[in-house]
Amino acid sequence: MFFPRTLSFVAALVLAASCGTKFPCDAKSCPTGCCNPSSGRCELGSAADQCGANGASCTTCGAGQMCLSGACAANNGSGGGSASTGGGTAVMPTTFWYKDVLPITQVRCANCHQAGGIGPFPLQTYAQAKPMAAAMKVAVTSKRMPPWMPDTSCGGPFVDDRSLTQAQIDTIAKWVDEGAAEGNPAGAPAAPGPVGQLPRVDATMTMTEAYTPSSTRTDDYRCFLVDPALPAARFVTGYDIQPGVTAEVHHVIVYIVDRAAARTKDMNEAGPGWTCFGDSGLTSPGPIGAWAPGTGAVIYPTGTGIQLQPNQALAMQIHYNTTSGTRTPDQSAVKLMYAPQGTTPTSAYLIPLVGDGFMIPPNSTDYTYSKDFPNPTRALAIKVYGLMPHMHTLGKRITIKGPSDACLVDIPKWDFHWQSQYFRPQPFTVPATGSVTLTCTWDNPTSRMIRWGESTQDEMCFAYIYATL
Ligand code: HEC
Repeated sequence: MFFPRTLSFVAALVLAASCGTKFPCDAKSCPTGCCNPSSGRCELGSAADQCGANGASCTTCGAGQMCLSGACAANNGSGGGSASTGGGTAVMPTTFWYKDVLPITQVRCANCHQAGGIGPFPLQTYAQAKPMAAAMKVAVTSKRMPPWMPDTSCGGPFVDDRSLTQAQIDTIAKWVDEGAAEGNPAGAPAAPGPVGQLPRVDATMTMTEAYTPSSTRTDDYRCFLVDPALPAARFVTGYDIQPGVTAEVHHVIVYIVDRAAARTKDMNEAGPGWTCFGDSGLTSPGPIGAWAPGTGAVIYPTGTGIQLQPNQALAMQIHYNTTSGTRTPDQSAVKLMYAPQGTTPTSAYLIPLVGDGFMIPPNSTDYTYSKDFPNPTRALAIKVYGLMPHMHTLGKRITIKGPSDACLVDIPKWDFHWQSQYFRPQPFTVPATGSVTLTCTWDNPTSRMIRWGESTQDEMCFAYIYATL
């Protein structure tokens, strides 16, 4: 299931930087640039010696000419600031990497697009960005990048909204259209603080032994005991789950469990950890966090946290899916941030919404299922801060609504590879007698009836909501 993403990224790279002689360079593979006749590469098409667009052969502009929007135009030498596309009036770029683009990319792209990051190539320096400029324009104008799944008209704006404003998209597009000019390094913005990371890591817990997923089933659910060994109660205010082998870790849920019970469970089964379908297989007040592809570090809303007692430890439930064929030993880890000692945040809970009553008919499209979840306390209002919707790969759309149809989150184009917890700046109050509604839509191209299930081939209509009283 990870292949489509890899392929699209390879295709995009090819499109952007190097059609190479192995790939035909044409209007399809090089839509925004031109094809270098000697190398067969797709060039930006904005340099005077490699000018062109729509995958046409690059041309060299004559003396006194410059390349403007992919066409050679007279350079009247004015150097003026205003762009003009008609009449052959040449202009100098007005949008520059350091002054205009870097302030956007360093907070909206570089956290993923850096060495060791999840983005496939770094976008931190001009030298790295320039060859990717055409692809950057396509990625931001099509809103593929930065990846941000929630519809902006429902429930948001969420904390950590990664999407770009139209003005930011226009700036990047203009910079590319004008030839991706560097400008003066003196105009560079100050380096931002860490983006998308925990501001502080108080505990890092790694599976004590590596585990090789089962050779007899492709969906292997295994729980591993990781122990924060707290001498006194603490509140978890953030986490960063780090799957070891991302090609086989389908999801991770970190449950709070009783340490003694978990040790017994662990000892009673051979090999690292124990088998645990559905949940941890132990009584649990709930999870402290979850990871699915696309989830980064999660920081809980200020003043809230999930309490961990000294007699408690964590069971890291990992769903391994090995349909890709590899069975590599995995050693996943979880990093925690605690509230400073002596502070008492408001206790929060991750409440599961299990929409398991659906049956998706074979060869169907737009099959939709809804379920209402009454306020679990039935007696007190709850404040909903966070929402983490989850489906498998046939999911098309998932929506959570509050009473009176209040829209809490809507993922109009579900993408299994981009899953997150979305936090509201202000909580949404569900009254004691109120409920929330989870709605899922799928396409089922298979000839099987598909129901709720733990296997990747089954589906889910699920969400965690992060709430306090
Ligand atoms: C949350 C992480 C993340 C952020 C933020 C992000 N990217 Fe990406 N980017 C990726 C990943 C992962 C891929 C690989 C393709 C995929 O998974 O969709 C990618 C692929 C790309 C590609 C290859 C073409 C494509 O569309 O797949 C371009 C170009 C790109 N990103 C540009 C950007 C720019 C420009 C920004 C900022 C405005 C940005 N990205 C922000 C993670 C990110």
